[in-house]
Amino acid sequence: MVNNTNAKPRDAWGSRLGFIMAAAGSAVGLGNIWKFPYTAGESGGGAFVAIYLFFVIFIGFSVMLTEFAIGRKTGLSAVGAFKSTDRRWSFVGIMGVLSGLLIMGFYPVVGGWSIAYIYKIASGLLSTPEAIGDSFGGFISNPVQPLMWMALYLFLNILIVIRGISGGIEKAGKILMPLLFVILIIVSVKGLTLPGSSEGLKFLFSPDFSVVDSNVVLAALGQAFFSLSLGMGAMITYGSYLKKKENLVQNTAMVTAMDTGVAILAGIAMFPAMFAFGMEPAAGPGLVFVVVPQLFAEMGGMIGLLLALLFFIGLSVAALTSSVSLLEVVVSYLIDEKGMKRPTAVISSSVVMASLCVLASLSLGGVGPTLFDTGAFDIFDLLTDKIFLAVGGMFICIFAGWRLKRDELEKEITNDGEVSFPLFGLWYNLVKFVIPGLIAIVAIAGIMSGFDSGKGAIMVMGLVIIGLAALFSKKL
Ligand code: PHE
Repeated sequence: MVNNTNAKPRDAWGSRLGFIMAAAGSAVGLGNIWKFPYTAGESGGGAFVAIYLFFVIFIGFSVMLTEFAIGRKTGLSAVGAFKSTDRRWSFVGIMGVLSGLLIMGFYPVVGGWSIAYIYKIASGLLSTPEAIGDSFGGFISNPVQPLMWMALYLFLNILIVIRGISGGIEKAGKILMPLLFVILIIVSVKGLTLPGSSEGLKFLFSPDFSVVDSNVVLAALGQAFFSLSLGMGAMITYGSYLKKKENLVQNTAMVTAMDTGVAILAGIAMFPAMFAFGMEPAAGPGLVFVVVPQLFAEMGGMIGLLLALLFFIGLSVAALTSSVSLLEVVVSYLIDEKGMKRPTAVISSSVVMASLCVLASLSLGGVGPTLFDTGAFDIFDLLTDKIFLAVGGMFICIFAGWRLKRDELEKEITNDGEVSFPLFGLWYNLVKFVIPGLIAIVAIAGIMSGFDSGKGAIMVMGLVIIGLAALFSKKL
């Protein structure tokens, strides 16, 4: 069981591999396989991918290292980690808890789709390839069905998180992540052999920077944060379970590389096939649910069916290992700061998440309240991915760079001088000066251009929420 009271030793990861797999499990999820391809498709392809990679290397890596260092140094989860150093900074942790709640307000909806597709494929979806596209649209706009799958998905999360961190997640990750990786390679190879597929590779890898505006840049930044699970304390929480002798830099490099590798691989699995099928790259959130079944239907026979099943089983598990880390951020806040018992904390946060998910799911069928013409699903996505995570990451860097001491950080990252990290100075200056500045510029420019639609207003609302959290943080 996870226990955060300082008197008792903190539960630690069973093994080094266990930690990497769990952190990579948090990172690799729907963000890589569902969100990355469709966002790249909607944002012009190659240029988006290039900017995303730039952000992963120069911002993502450094922020992840910062989160692991803060987590391990304090041995506390998101809110406690900041609070124990300086109460005024606890709003950064609170923002993280809020992001966790809001992301869990739509993530289980998509996780539910993924489980539903296991069932749909098992019951003959692939035998009518012409119907695959319409079937997705009909399914997600149905008011009832997706809700049942969402409930099942959330229930699985509850089961895992109620048991505490190191058991379930560690085991599931170790087996199923490599499996998913292998299936993605098979899907890619299959896609690349279809006639006309090379256009897809060109779309993904030859950047046309003339399509880039500040919206695309902010989308790439948001994607980097979302995909690497950064900016909300998930990696602080996971880092707090990390043993003192582990090499933080190496762990960060491995997790970043795995996460980015899977995203790029998902792109290679999706776009060549899509171009071969003559589909629109800007197909939206349905992309993976349409392209992948279509590809396996094309493959035909038992092999096609089996691989399609394994793909959606793998995707569901990848989604689960991510969403449990989201739930864990909220749950450890309720346990550590509000003194709740683990089961109570899990159940009460899940009730809130389930209610948000109902709004999100219904909004895709055009049902329920909207704000500036935007439905709940898009609002939660916009607020978290474009504002909370990036701005949260900015504050995490400011906290590390300006509130913590340079030599404390150096000691933590180098394990008191035992591990060499020649780039420490570069990392420190990035975290202290460059990253906060860059995030501020990208976010402001993105918000300004968002005013063409209702999105700007919603993003400003996000900033107001952050401001309120900062004002009231001492009470939380
Ligand atoms: N990184 C996860 C994914 O790609 C989502 C996530 C975001 C998880 C933030 C935890 C924190 O699916």
